[in-house]
Amino acid sequence: MKPMIVDHPLIQHKISLLRNKQTGTKEFRDLVGEIANLLCYEATRDLPTEEVEIETPVTVARTKVLAGRKLALVPILRAGMGMLDGMLNLIPAAKVGFIGLYRDETTLQPVEYFCKLPSDIAERDVLVLDPMLATGGSAIDAINMIKKRGAKRIKFIGLIAAPEGLNALQEAHPDVSIYVAALDDHLNENGYIVPGLGDAGDRIYGTK
Ligand code: PRP
Ligand code: URA
Repeated sequence: MKPMIVDHPLIQHKISLLRNKQTGTKEFRDLVGEIANLLCYEATRDLPTEEVEIETPVTVARTKVLAGRKLALVPILRAGMGMLDGMLNLIPAAKVGFIGLYRDETTLQPVEYFCKLPSDIAERDVLVLDPMLATGGSAIDAINMIKKRGAKRIKFIGLIAAPEGLNALQEAHPDVSIYVAALDDHLNENGYIVPGLGDAGDRIYGTK
């Protein structure tokens, strides 16, 4: 499936602010939430609607409402948590699961430390949240875990992807739609996205 690079001017502007190393923790965290909100708008564009009849102050009209598709949001800890509220703002009825993964600094392989998903995840459309798609290892593992529990309709939503991670994710999970705000140049020798924004988790939470 062709990845969607959501390069709306508002998103490009906010991503530039995120990339700036002078941007402090609070502003960084706020921006991650705002961009997630804008990405949510695009990633939910295909939600089914149904017609209902309502009475406006002027007349009776047939209009559209969401057809009740069940959604689940699954942030990959830690950095994915920074995107959660921005998504919930638009889809407050979504259930939320959590997957804890960190990248081993030397091997760059993801290490799993937590998984708690809604019990009915198999019936839900799942939006996996992680700002950074670098080697793709974390996203691929998280989606493996979600598929193992029966989910079939999965989207990945991120802020910045490296071509390496995008290709790896598409190869491992060709059925998963990918929405990112920017496609960067490459990964450096430490597995960081270039130009990127540094370590997303550290910048969201002010850790180092
Ligand atoms: C970051 C990021 C992704 C992962 C991406 O998390 O949030 O989960 O790296 O890298 P990959 O595509 O090469 O797997 P990190 O491991 O730094 O953990 P954190 O969110 O707890 O800081
Ligand atoms: N994880 C991050 O937080 N940043 C990168 O550039 C790569 C992986």
